[in-house]
Amino acid sequence: MDFDAILQGKYPARQHARRVVDYIRSKVPDATGVLYLESRMTKLLEDNDEPEPFRQRRFFYYLTGCELADSYVIHDMDSSKTTLFIPPINPESVIWSGLPVSAEEAMQKYDVDEVKYTTDVNAQLAHVAGQKAKSTVFAIPNQVSEHVTFLGFDNTNFSILKEAIEVCRVVKDEYELAMIAKANDISSKAHRVVMERAKHAKNERELEARFLADCISAGARNQAYHGIFAGGKAAATLHYVHNNAPLKGKLNLLVDAGAEWDCYASDITRTFPINGKFTKESRAIYDIVLKMQLECIAALKEDVLWDDVHLLAHKVAIDGLLELGILKGDKDEILANRTSVAFFPHGLGHYLGMDTHDTGGNPNYADEDTLFRYLRVRGRVPAGSVVTVEPGIYFCSFIIEPFLKDPKHAKYIDAEVLERYWDVGGVRIEDNVVVTKGGAENLTTAIKDPDHIEKIIASS
Ligand code: GLY
Ligand code: MN
Ligand code: MN
Repeated sequence: MDFDAILQGKYPARQHARRVVDYIRSKVPDATGVLYLESRMTKLLEDNDEPEPFRQRRFFYYLTGCELADSYVIHDMDSSKTTLFIPPINPESVIWSGLPVSAEEAMQKYDVDEVKYTTDVNAQLAHVAGQKAKSTVFAIPNQVSEHVTFLGFDNTNFSILKEAIEVCRVVKDEYELAMIAKANDISSKAHRVVMERAKHAKNERELEARFLADCISAGARNQAYHGIFAGGKAAATLHYVHNNAPLKGKLNLLVDAGAEWDCYASDITRTFPINGKFTKESRAIYDIVLKMQLECIAALKEDVLWDDVHLLAHKVAIDGLLELGILKGDKDEILANRTSVAFFPHGLGHYLGMDTHDTGGNPNYADEDTLFRYLRVRGRVPAGSVVTVEPGIYFCSFIIEPFLKDPKHAKYIDAEVLERYWDVGGVRIEDNVVVTKGGAENLTTAIKDPDHIEKIIASS
């Protein structure tokens, strides 16, 4: 995908607004009126005059492509006209922060019909309401400023707009895919640099610093989530947060890190031997996880049941662990007993978009079936959606010990063979994949072939 060429255009905000209106009308057939949304507001740190780190509100961004704080948008459902309201010039703050974006500049930059200043919002709402009979303003609960008034409208609806945007966000258009591909390109290159630097580093934090430096240098100043740089057994902690431990004497490094490009995420994991040479045990586990991932990606296509793809990952894991002797017994019984959850306790992946764990997945975290409890997407995945495919096998005593103590599971686990694998820690391989009509397109280019990984580290 030539993402840089696609990103020369504008973020397709009006197309998004039309999709959201279509969704609302599919639920409320005669809906008429406006959609009203606000950006995140500037907020100061507690007891301090510095602003908090700013993260744009995703619902607002979806209908505007606008990254500014303290802004509003009105989309007229009947004329399909979008009006963006941005902060006016405040001479006091110009001294400190320079000139803000002007209405003329905003018209050039964003896919909207009109740009006004936020001081005009109530007058504009009253004007639009006055032109319509029986109109409704659709908004999101707790996301409307106190000074904003909907008095001129016959109805307010706070129940459907959030759901509508969450559902519409699942299927990405070409521009959104290009943003995710761009985030992936930058992050994949940063992963490679970390791989090359790992054997020269003394502490996990040096590698985190290197990853961040490369992303920022490439123009991606925000990360999609807190990266995980986990050496040795720390990799068995799924969302390890410390990134601050010495690397000496540790076998593998797990790096789960991804930059954001204009509010769109990447989410990539690589695991590799710090000294550049897999041990027999860690190579065996790596090969199983890679097989899980490749088979799952090959199984993807429009409307495939994600639950089935997750199940496939477990089947491949069970076959592999049986072959190594870590599991023993009948593979169908092992699956039926959910014993493989001891080694692969999380879901295969999630939707990816403006949020790392993106909207629309309909998870069921109360599912009594432990195999599916943490699966963040349930049901069919449509063409144009982006999923992460991130199988893993972990040797986490906190998770595995209870299985060893439970006779229902213990008979399928060979504790003696397992002893040899604790040092592997955990292996996860995570790519970002677009579901297409006939298959899938992988947006992640970070190296994962184990022989290639060894060559890169050897020559670094
Ligand atoms: N980086 C968080 C996740 O993989 O879901
Ligand atoms: Mn993920
Ligand atoms: Mn991840």
